[in-house]
Amino acid sequence: MKSNLSNLGDRLTYFTASNHSGQWRIVSIKPVTGDGLDDASYLSLNHHRDDDTVNSTEVPWQLCGVVSNTRYVTNEEKIELENIQAGLGRPQATCAALIPIRKTSTWWSLSQEERRDIFETKSHHTANSIPFLPAIARKLHHGRDIGEPFDFYTWFEYAPEDAAAFETLVSKLRSSLEWTYVDREVDIRLERVE
Ligand code: HEM
Repeated sequence: MKSNLSNLGDRLTYFTASNHSGQWRIVSIKPVTGDGLDDASYLSLNHHRDDDTVNSTEVPWQLCGVVSNTRYVTNEEKIELENIQAGLGRPQATCAALIPIRKTSTWWSLSQEERRDIFETKSHHTANSIPFLPAIARKLHHGRDIGEPFDFYTWFEYAPEDAAAFETLVSKLRSSLEWTYVDREVDIRLERVE
C-alpha cells in the first residue's frame, strides 16, 4: 500500500522510528489505550519513503499519514483557527508529541452529523483547544483510508515552558465523550535533536 502513495507528494508524512539517528529524540512511548509501539530512540519526519532505510533493522516501525480536508470545522471556526495558530518548525518549539489514535467501528458507523455532534457540540474539541493556541502548533494526518494501523497521527510542537499546558489539554480531551470512541492510542514525546 505505502509504495503506491508517492503521488500524494508533500501531503504525505512518513514517521520513521530508528535506534540510530533522527531529527527528534524519543523521550517516551506510552500506550494509553490498546497496544503500544516498540521502543525506539529517534524519529524522523519525511515526505518520501526511503526503502533502504525501512528495510534496515534499525527501523523498529514506520507510520504514514496524509493531510486531508477538514471534516468538522465550521467556517467561523476555520477562520478563528487560521488567525491564531502557529506553524511548525519554530526554533523555540523544541518539544513535540506524536499521538497516533484509532477510533472504534461504532464511531465510523455514525453519520457525519452525529460525529460532529459528539466532536464539537458535546465534547467541545475545537472550542476547548483554541485557548492553547498559538503556544501549541498542530498538524493532523489521516491514516484510515490508506490502510494504516491508526486512523490519525496527531503531531504537536511546543516550547518547554508550554509543556504543562499541553498536559492539561491532553487530559481534558481524554476525559471527553469523543474519547470514549478511541480504542487505540499511543503517546510519544520527543525533543528536537540539536
Ligand atoms: C492544540 C490544540 C488543538 C486544536 C486547536 C485542535 C483542533 C482540532 C480541529 C479543528 C479538528 C478537526 C479537523 C477537521 O475538521 O477535520 C481536530 C481533529 C482532531 N484532533 Fe485536535 N486539536 C488540538 C489538540 C489535539 C490533541 C492534543 C489531540 C490528541 C491528544 C487531538 C486529536 C485530534 C484528533 C484525533 C482529531 C481527528 C478527529 C476525527 O476526525 O475524528 N487534538 N482537532
